Amino acid sequence: MKVKVAECAALFWSGGQPVWDDALGHRQLALTPASEGLLRTFATWRELDDAGLGPEQRSIAARLIDAGVLLEWGSPAHENEVQVLTGWQPWGAAARQYHLASRTLATTVYLDDADSDAELEARAAYAPPPPPFKTYPEAPAVALATGPPASDDWEHGDLVDALHHRRSVREFAPSAVDLGRLTALLQLGGGIVERRADSLYGTVAFKASPSAGARDPIEIYAIVRNVVGVDPGLYHFSPGTNALEKVGELPSDDAQAAALGGQGWLAAAPVVLVYSAVIARTQWRYPSGRAYRDVLIGFGHVSQTVLVTAAAMGLGATVVTAVSDEDLETMFGLDRTGEPVLGVTAVGVPAPRR
Ligand SMILES: Cc1cc2nc3c(=O)[nH]c(=O)nc-3n(C[C@H](O)[C@H](O)[C@H](O)COP(=O)(O)O)c2cc1C
Repeated sequence: MKVKVAECAALFWSGGQPVWDDALGHRQLALTPASEGLLRTFATWRELDDAGLGPEQRSIAARLIDAGVLLEWGSPAHENEVQVLTGWQPWGAAARQYHLASRTLATTVYLDDADSDAELEARAAYAPPPPPFKTYPEAPAVALATGPPASDDWEHGDLVDALHHRRSVREFAPSAVDLGRLTALLQLGGGIVERRADSLYGTVAFKASPSAGARDPIEIYAIVRNVVGVDPGLYHFSPGTNALEKVGELPSDDAQAAALGGQGWLAAAPVVLVYSAVIARTQWRYPSGRAYRDVLIGFGHVSQTVLVTAAAMGLGATVVTAVSDEDLETMFGLDRTGEPVLGVTAVGVPAPRR
């Protein structure tokens, strides 16, 4: 019988011990030094009988085969692995591992509402939930109009019309963006549209876009280059105070271009919204790695709300993820672990169609 180490897994160290993380089966097994040694012996396909194993090693190998850490050539588990490895090959081991490890199985059990509430209350007793949004109280602020934006003079104010007209726009006129329009984008993109009292959180702030557990992790920043009545600079949108808080000056053109992934047309946009995620908000409510998917999905919802609102107003916009997350995090002083950047949206007055 030929055997080999299974590849749809990761080996990591925890508390001084190597751990076998089987992403396919959602199991984590601590490895003894003897098992670890056998993984090297069977790094590639090898006849079990020709590997020179003593009786004890032979019995460990049998246990590793039972546990699926070693695969038998031609077994259903081997065939399954070939299929998975082939499908995920272009994206590499990290994407495959995360997808498989965070994919729910037929055996996955969800807590019912009562158990979930009890668990959250117990958690809140020793670690209160993080604040629902950020603010920079020391930053000079531009107060924004409050209340739902009036859409009477929007070019495509009807929802179906707006959805039909939403196209990515990458060419902008040299005109400034009106502050009222930017305010509408921010209010619908990240502003509070309803507050509800809640026994656990005190108040829950609801947004125009849905978010897992209403923990909306998304923060919106802006590179403001040309907006009527707003100094060019780097800003944070504060939903709690409904203001644009100035958190920095515009970096050099070269630094902006590098942070925006070298996409030249982005440098010509009067405003670039930058989205980050405060991971702790979602992590507190859902302490399972699967919730990272919810964070990314949340970015998609917010981004779409901004894009459709821009289309409704007759503004041009494009969401972009091919940017330098690291440069943007540095530019806005964000903690790359706690508040990573997820993408940006360029906004401007569309250039007349050629
Ligand atoms: C997640 C995501 C990432 C994107 N990243 C980029 C990008 O880096 N650069 C770009 O020019 N467009 C980007 N786009 C815009 C797409 O190219 C665009 O949506 C697509 O071509 C369809 O055109 P439409 O938006 O006009 O319907 C992105 C869109 C999405 C949803």
